[in-house]
Amino acid sequence: MRIVIFGANGQTGRLVTRRALDAGHIAVAVTRNPDGFPFADPRLEVVGADVRDAPAVVTAVDGADAVLSTLGVPFSMRPIDTYSAGIGNVVAAMQKTSVRRLVVVSSSGTTHYPNRVGASFALRITEPIITRTIGKSTYDDQRRMEATVRDSGLDWTIVHPSGLFDLPNVTEYIAGEVDPVGGFTSRTDLADYLVTLASRRGRHDTVTISTTTDTPTMWEMVRREAFKSA
Ligand SMILES: NC(=O)c1ccc[n+]([C@@H]2O[C@H](COP(=O)([O-])OP(=O)(O)OC[C@H]3O[C@@H](n4cnc5c(N)ncnc54)[C@H](OP(=O)(O)O)[C@@H]3O)[C@@H](O)[C@H]2O)c1
Repeated sequence: MRIVIFGANGQTGRLVTRRALDAGHIAVAVTRNPDGFPFADPRLEVVGADVRDAPAVVTAVDGADAVLSTLGVPFSMRPIDTYSAGIGNVVAAMQKTSVRRLVVVSSSGTTHYPNRVGASFALRITEPIITRTIGKSTYDDQRRMEATVRDSGLDWTIVHPSGLFDLPNVTEYIAGEVDPVGGFTSRTDLADYLVTLASRRGRHDTVTISTTTDTPTMWEMVRREAFKSA
């Protein structure tokens, strides 16, 4: 399959690109910085495009068997529209070029999951605060993105990971149309699931993915995010 990946140069996107190649697919990695892409492969094409640039998105998407998005921007108190504007362009490009399969990463923070089990006390306290303050602009825009995807007429899957962290290997993650378990998703698990979902046709579903082994504590998560560049 020819899989086009938006956000391919991000933390999850690089893992998705590698995983797609390892699974034998052709990967088209879309990034605004093609010269900085960290690896090469005979089946890898690196395409320079800003997702806000509609004609460039059409060129990137044309000929794909599936499109994956791990597009993301940092939390901000200012209005955010990268998710909705970007995926709006991706959806329009797919409709124009007759590409059917779209898998987008959103967030479990967009949705109230009353039956989420295994979430720590710290997570249950902090999540509603984050979703109403520093995360509000992000989650509002991810909900707009999701509405565009649901109305697209494409074969779509929206993926709701929880707090992302890094593990070296894929675990026995829990995924599908279920409430999240705990508060975390490893990027390696997410990459594995996204590549699996790319080849599933005829779907219109919103799924979660939860990692339940070797997860960080809330405090470790906050510390890692805060001191990432250290
Ligand atoms: N962090 C969490 O705990 C968490 C939890 C749930 C869900 N999520 C979601 O998971 C996804 C992946 O997260 P991540 O940490 O892997 O993301 P990340 O490392 O921040 O990567 C996001 C990528 O999006 C690309 N991007 C941003 N604006 C773009 C634009 N205008 N045009 C083209 N590309 C653009 C950037 O690519 P270039 O700079 O290379 O162009 C960047 O590499 C995001 O959607 C995030 O919202 C995160």
